[in-house]
Order: sequence, then structure tokens, then C-alpha cells
Amino acid sequence: MEKTLSIIKPDGVSRGLIGEVIQRLEKNNFKIIAMKMLHMTKAQAEGFYAVHKERPFFESLTDFMSSGPAVMMVLEGEDVISKYRELMGATNYKEAAEGTIRADFATDIEKNIVHGSDAPETAAFEIGYFFNSFEIVG
Ligand code: RTP
Ligand code: MG
Repeated sequence: MEKTLSIIKPDGVSRGLIGEVIQRLEKNNFKIIAMKMLHMTKAQAEGFYAVHKERPFFESLTDFMSSGPAVMMVLEGEDVISKYRELMGATNYKEAAEGTIRADFATDIEKNIVHGSDAPETAAFEIGYFFNSFEIVG
């Protein structure tokens, strides 16, 4: 069984889309095994996105991710990493497939509502960044 980290980013929370995202997860039979809300500090956002620290958008991305509360979840299932990325849609909402979360709600390449891990190794790091073993059900 694979696990992935899902985040409803600060734009999703401030626009009232927590329920919408969770409804899509449940309707599509994703199993949620952990959940919390956190307002990351700038330093916490920098640590979370450390893989992107050389990218030109790093400063802006970490400002955005620390701009307000976000909802972190752990999802579990077969191929859940790629299945959840399929539900999210492409990073650039203009290229995201119809019916995906980003196609329906993102307003900008950065403010794209949701995050999902991209590989088992990054998922393990990202889940451990926010959750300890007592906070993960089953
Ligand atoms: P995420 O990590 O948030 O799930 O998104 P992703 O894999 O689809 O995209 P990634 O390449 O990992 O980029 C992380 C986040 O950085 C912002 N971004 N801005 N201005 C830009 O060109 C740009 N490119 C990426 C987005 O918020 C993206 O989700
Ligand atoms: Mg990514």
C-alpha cells in the first residue's frame, strides 16, 4: 500500500474549498488516514519545498505557502501517488485535464489549490515532515 501527502494550499483554504477537495477525495474512494490544519512559518515552508530551493519561483512559493493556514492529509491506497496527482491535474492549471481540481479551481500556476507528493521517497519525507506515527490512523 502506498501513501502520499496531500495539502489543500492557503488559496484553497481561504477560498472555502476544503469541503470541495475532501468531497472529491471521498467520491473517488481515496482513503484519508491523517489530517491536520497548520499555518506554516516561512522557514517551515522553505524546509518543505527544499527540493525547489534553486528554482526561480522558490521565494514566491514559500511566501505563498506560509501566507495562511493549509490542510495536510495523508492518503493511502494502491498507486495513490499517481492517482491523486491525476485528480489534482497538471501544475499549470491551463494544461490540467478537464474535471481535475486544478482545472476547476486554480487561478495561477502558483495558486493551484492542492499539493501531492510525486514519488514514494518524497512522500515519505513529506509525511514525516508534518505527522508522527500516532497521528496516522491504521
Ligand atoms: P506540488 O509539488 O505543489 O504538488 O505541485 P507540482 O508537483 O505539480 O509542481 P512542482 O513542480 O513540484 O512545483 C511546486 C509548486 O510550485 C509552484 N510553481 N510555481 N511560477 C512557476 O513557474 C511555478 N512553478 C511551480 C506551484 O504552486 C507548484 O505547485
Ligand atoms: Mg511537486
